[in-house]
Amino acid sequence: MMVQSPVSYRKALEGCPCEIQYDVPVFPYTSLKVGGPADVMAFPKSITEVVAVMRRISQHQLPFFVLGGGSNVLVRDGGIEGVVIQLDHLNRITLGDTGLLFAEAGVSYPRLSTYAMGCGLSGLEFATGIPGTVGGAVAMNAGIPGEETWEVLREIAFVDDKGEFETIPSEYVRHGYRSAALPRGVVVSASFLLSPAPVDRIEEKIKSLMKRRRETQPLSFPNVGSIFKNPPGAYTGRLVDEVGLKGYSIGGAQVSDRHGNFIVNRDNASAKDVLALIKKVVHKVRQERGVNLELEVRIVGRE
Ligand code: EPU
Repeated sequence: MMVQSPVSYRKALEGCPCEIQYDVPVFPYTSLKVGGPADVMAFPKSITEVVAVMRRISQHQLPFFVLGGGSNVLVRDGGIEGVVIQLDHLNRITLGDTGLLFAEAGVSYPRLSTYAMGCGLSGLEFATGIPGTVGGAVAMNAGIPGEETWEVLREIAFVDDKGEFETIPSEYVRHGYRSAALPRGVVVSASFLLSPAPVDRIEEKIKSLMKRRRETQPLSFPNVGSIFKNPPGAYTGRLVDEVGLKGYSIGGAQVSDRHGNFIVNRDNASAKDVLALIKKVVHKVRQERGVNLELEVRIVGRE
């Protein structure tokens, strides 16, 4: 990948049929509210515009990064090199004749969960407490213990890093715990196969998941949800609790005093504060419990 200057970004993207902005703060687009600016941000309004942007990116070999709801990324203080693709405008949901529920990548996952409930379709209740987007949920196989996105996913529409559009049946893609082996590119939509169920039963499940979440998670401070994956046979939240790090702070970042697997931005934290806290947790859990924690949050950007 060539290193680009601000002028070369403008040249490469001149006339591209998509809203483009330069040197844009990314933190407002993330749930943790930390990190530096993106060199470029693209805000496609349609899949055709995603294709146009990806063709320019491919033609000029620009680095790119797809930002979903920004609820599972930690942007470093130096900002993000290249083009950040933001998919908020891709926000259509439709229920097809075949019974598949179709959603564009920028649809919020909780909104899709509520929509499915309204259609009397069960299978996405868990999505109600996952504050990301459909695209992000597909890319990282978002879920809660015992339920995950790829169980109900049937097909993905995708724009690859050459700007080619394709649809991929989900059974052709290897996936695992919080991961999916997708090629490089942009998930633009997903179709889900859900099961008909009485609306009140779906609603009851959603309510009980929300109640549990409200009781156990620090929802009033900016955060990225679970920082780490749960190790096989254990829960990170419990491990962090047991080693006594709940409430521990570095700068403006704090390990939540409510849930050990959350770091919250208490007071104008920098990405540096959050990264130092992550390091501290990893070290202490390894030292005292012999467990190597693996990140769930994606760290991007320059130091
Ligand atoms: N626990 C403690 N101390 C803590 C936190 C948790 O002992 O400080 C214990 C709990 O009592 C429970 C166990 O650890 O026995 C698991 O905790 P919890 O039920 O909160 O679930 P989790 O595994 O920490 C997962 C998802 C969350 C999702 C909740 C819904 C992962 C990595 N995380 O959390 O997803 O909201 O279940 O219950 O699977 C996310 O992925 O970003 C996310 C927030």
